[in-house]
Amino acid sequence: AEGGHDDLPHRESWSFAGPFGTYDTAQLQRGFKVFREVCAACHSANYLYFRNLAQPGGPRFSEAQAKAVATDYQITDGPNDQGEMFQRPGRLSDHWPAPFPNDQAARVANGGALPPDLSVIAKARASHVGFPGFITDAFTQYQEGGVDYIHALLTGYVDAPEGFKLQSGLNYNKYFPGHQIAMPKPISDGQVEYTDGTPATVDQYSRDVSAYLMWMAEPHLDARKRIGFQVFVFLIVLAGLLYFTKKKIWKNVA
Ligand code: HEM
Repeated sequence: AEGGHDDLPHRESWSFAGPFGTYDTAQLQRGFKVFREVCAACHSANYLYFRNLAQPGGPRFSEAQAKAVATDYQITDGPNDQGEMFQRPGRLSDHWPAPFPNDQAARVANGGALPPDLSVIAKARASHVGFPGFITDAFTQYQEGGVDYIHALLTGYVDAPEGFKLQSGLNYNKYFPGHQIAMPKPISDGQVEYTDGTPATVDQYSRDVSAYLMWMAEPHLDARKRIGFQVFVFLIVLAGLLYFTKKKIWKNVA
């Protein structure tokens, strides 16, 4: 088996990296399409509400588009006056429906393995990159560690090296810790239709869906970076004012 650093995900360049980085709206819309058509068949995203799709700092669908997405799903509601549960089309105020009624059902459908909720996975998996450990984490984790890992994971399905004992029902992946993952290779070239001319490749799908997962995990990233910058400017101006005020107040003291 390959080992050591060969198996660490590559650092990719992301539009939202760095102190002034912002999400690429078109990329988030494509990533949502991949998420919806592929990942959501097995994974839940319980923290996502349909209305989030139309909020600033995200994929920025129009409210009408977000409503149209919501009505495509049947939501269990109730009990009604007769004490019965019933199905109705989704609304903006509903959260993203899970593909299975509970964890047991999800495991049964996935050979015993539980597909994790993807709401905050981009942050939760940041520590898969670098050298895990309480002290080293602080130095080796970085904001985009999770998306680098997810992009690597989705593009990391290769044949198991000769002599590798792969358990039946598991799949070989270069970047999954231990290399044996229950998730089968989820996407192939051409599987999701892109209408804006973006290449329909596994690499591009992985990039786009990773960016989308980053937004689900960090929906206020854009605003936070903008406010952070404004705070810096404010503090620099304030420091100048305080300096000259101090000079003036103390000017007659020897
Ligand atoms: C695990 C992402 C599609 C079934 C995972 C993990 C991620 C992920 C990040 C966690 C890996 C880790 O623990 O480090 C995605 C994305 C998908 C997708 C972005 C769409 C492109 C699917 C599909 C299925 C599936 C379609 C079902 C056929 C699973 C299962 C696990 C898993 C069973 C648990 C694996 C294990 O613990 O061995 N997925 N997934 N996923 N996924 Fe997916």
